[in-house]
Amino acid sequence: MQTARDAGRILAERIGRSLEISNKGEIDLVTESDLASERLIIDRIKSHYPRHAILAEESGEAIVIDSPNEWKWIIDPLDGTTNYAHGYPCFCVSIGVERAGRIELGVVYDPMRDEIFAAERGGGATLNERKIRVSRVQELNNAMLCTGFPYDVRERPHFARHFSNFTMKAQAVRRDGSAALDLAYVAAGRFDGFWEDGLSPWDVAAGSLLVEEAGGRVSDFLGNQLDIYTPQVLVSNGAIHDSMMSVLRG
Ligand code: IPD
Ligand code: CA
Ligand code: CA
Repeated sequence: MQTARDAGRILAERIGRSLEISNKGEIDLVTESDLASERLIIDRIKSHYPRHAILAEESGEAIVIDSPNEWKWIIDPLDGTTNYAHGYPCFCVSIGVERAGRIELGVVYDPMRDEIFAAERGGGATLNERKIRVSRVQELNNAMLCTGFPYDVRERPHFARHFSNFTMKAQAVRRDGSAALDLAYVAAGRFDGFWEDGLSPWDVAAGSLLVEEAGGRVSDFLGNQLDIYTPQVLVSNGAIHDSMMSVLRG
């Protein structure tokens, strides 16, 4: 949690300044803040746990592990880079810790609101150290949903269909531009559900545990157990999960 806070401080201090920005893809950016935040997090992990594996967005697989039981840190140093590059204050730091293929710890930190979401498997989820729960909304018609547009959205034509179908069925649909924060908001009951096709493990590692520990449900679009290494993610408060799956089938 302290590392996420320190990395978040780097992001908050630099937002709005003229930043060095480069393109990883046609619409996929990386700023010097992504890199500075990632450097801080990796240095910190290495100094405490030199043998742990690290999967960080900007460096790829930094350390290869020899045993599947070893710990692996899964890091998004700045989730919401496009927002950040435009000075739009919706972004976060996300750190998940996986062991034997299961996420055991997750932290999502929003430095602009000083909100830290944290979960430990079996220990519940918190926001600024207070317990959080998913919402009680029972019907899609009363639900506020969120989604994201991945960088390869132009190659995913079903995306627009899902978006328009949900818009017709839900009370509201938002698109915030930070998947990890969106998942944390489902855990906190601010959103009732979230879907996106095209996510990476660092977008989902921490947030998926937050949702589970807050009493929600996480899966792929078909309701299968979520595999954070595959791109489709559907999370909800549980009550509206089946209705969301039917919309995604339509
Ligand atoms: C992106 C954000 C965005 C989501 C994209 C992600 P980045 O992560 O989470 O909300 O729609 O699919 O790649 O690049 O800002 O870390
Ligand atoms: Ca991300
Ligand atoms: Ca990122």
